[in-house]
Amino acid sequence: MMANARLYSTRQVQVLDQRTIEQGVPGFALMLQAGQAALDEIMKRFPQARRLCIFCGGGNNGGDGYVVAALARRQGLDVQLLALRAPNQLQDEAAEAVHLARESGVTIDDWHQGVEIAKTTDVIVDALLGTGTRGEIRAPFDRAIACINAAPQPVIALDIPSGLNADTGALLGDAVEADLTVTFIARKFGLYTGQAPDVTGEIVLAPLSVSETTLTDSDYTGELLVPERLQNTLPRRRPTTHKGHCGHLLVVGGQPGFGGSTIMSAETAARLGAGLVSLATASVHIPPALTRCPEMMVREARNGLDIEDLVDKATAVLIGPGLGQGAWGQGLMQTVMNAAGPRLVDADGLHLLAAGYGGERRDDWILTPHPGEAAMLLDCSVAEVQADRYQAALALHRRYGGVIVLKGAGTLVVGGEGPGECFISPFGNPGMASGGMGDVLGGMIASLLVQGVPGLEAAASGVLIHGLAADDAAREHGERGLLASDLACYARRRANPDRR
Ligand code: APR
Repeated sequence: MMANARLYSTRQVQVLDQRTIEQGVPGFALMLQAGQAALDEIMKRFPQARRLCIFCGGGNNGGDGYVVAALARRQGLDVQLLALRAPNQLQDEAAEAVHLARESGVTIDDWHQGVEIAKTTDVIVDALLGTGTRGEIRAPFDRAIACINAAPQPVIALDIPSGLNADTGALLGDAVEADLTVTFIARKFGLYTGQAPDVTGEIVLAPLSVSETTLTDSDYTGELLVPERLQNTLPRRRPTTHKGHCGHLLVVGGQPGFGGSTIMSAETAARLGAGLVSLATASVHIPPALTRCPEMMVREARNGLDIEDLVDKATAVLIGPGLGQGAWGQGLMQTVMNAAGPRLVDADGLHLLAAGYGGERRDDWILTPHPGEAAMLLDCSVAEVQADRYQAALALHRRYGGVIVLKGAGTLVVGGEGPGECFISPFGNPGMASGGMGDVLGGMIASLLVQGVPGLEAAASGVLIHGLAADDAAREHGERGLLASDLACYARRRANPDRR
């Protein structure tokens, strides 16, 4: 695993920070490195910048801001430093940073005196609140955040955007909407989930001099999915490989009026390399399914009995899209879930599961709820799921076993032994806010599954391919108007990494 793809809680980062200090790197040296790294990133992106406006809070995040101010001043830039806390109230390393800023000729303005952001500012730096933020944002920080967001200049956040909970990705009221976040030591989990994608902008990691071994030794909370992962996911095909080696997926669902969902799942699964794809659906959907993709084997499912032989033959079954929650769906669900073998349960299948039609726990199933379905499965509100998506995914995993894919921006994948491993996808874009995106995701994951990729890896790589394909498509044609069925050809390219 790439060390810098690991995700840490704020508590874990504090431990890393402390351990590094115990290994002999003074806290202030780390703060100097953080300030330098942030200034380097600013100058790399805005080489013409002559004037910075830096908002500083009263903790160590503020201290980082004073360091940026000092180093920028020494580099000949103009600096406007707006202090929300009196500089003499800062402590320890942050107090040293104030001293350095003064020594470097930085003038410190009291923000409470009504000083405005200078019109000539090129870049705004947010050093108001970092990982020490607790509870709702209090005055006057809320007003300073609003003032930063109203300004036209680009905004660089130090460590995290102020107002973001760095563990959950929840907004603690208003949050700074940054164009770039330079995060220090390690990636915080909350930068990638919840509402975080709305406010972080691009994220750059500045590891400072925290050694690889310190990182390796520490516990971490999850792992960011990276495109390189796909190089090792799919089994290589030998010259003698035949379709029997590439798995047989059965897709079940699509009551009248909801046929497109299963057709999209099945077609996408075929496009990602499943050897055979069968579709069991309502009879009315058979002609359109075959017209769209004649490679599918399409069969009418009148009731559960109709599909018993197909279920037995299939390497894995994807059930749920367009299934409905009535007698038809219940019968199909029971047949599918009574037999052994890997299952991917989505959409109405999840509702039927919660209603007792699919068993309670299974190690070989993958559940792919969106936040509304997750709330239903956990008997809580959608707001509670979204307030801490990581905890919600862990709770689903504890309760249902198998692999959980909690969809939505920053899709989470949790599976494996004990509390489970967690992956998070930083890919995807708002173009994906359109019908059918979940159906094609299910098809991608299930396709990898029948090709022999283990459940957790199939889910992680499927989520990765889905987000990357959507980003590739949006890069070419724009986000608006992206259709779920557009993704298949981009996904295919991503699933054949050597062809990119
Ligand atoms: N509203 C307003 N002020 C708050 C809130 C809140 N909800 N929560 C905390 N504060 C204030 C505290 O009173 C304190 O002055 O913010 C300050 C602590 O904030 P941080 O600077 O985030 O905390 P600290 O632990 O000092 O520093 C952590 O330092 O290593 C750097 O940037 C890195 O994020 C990291 C930061």
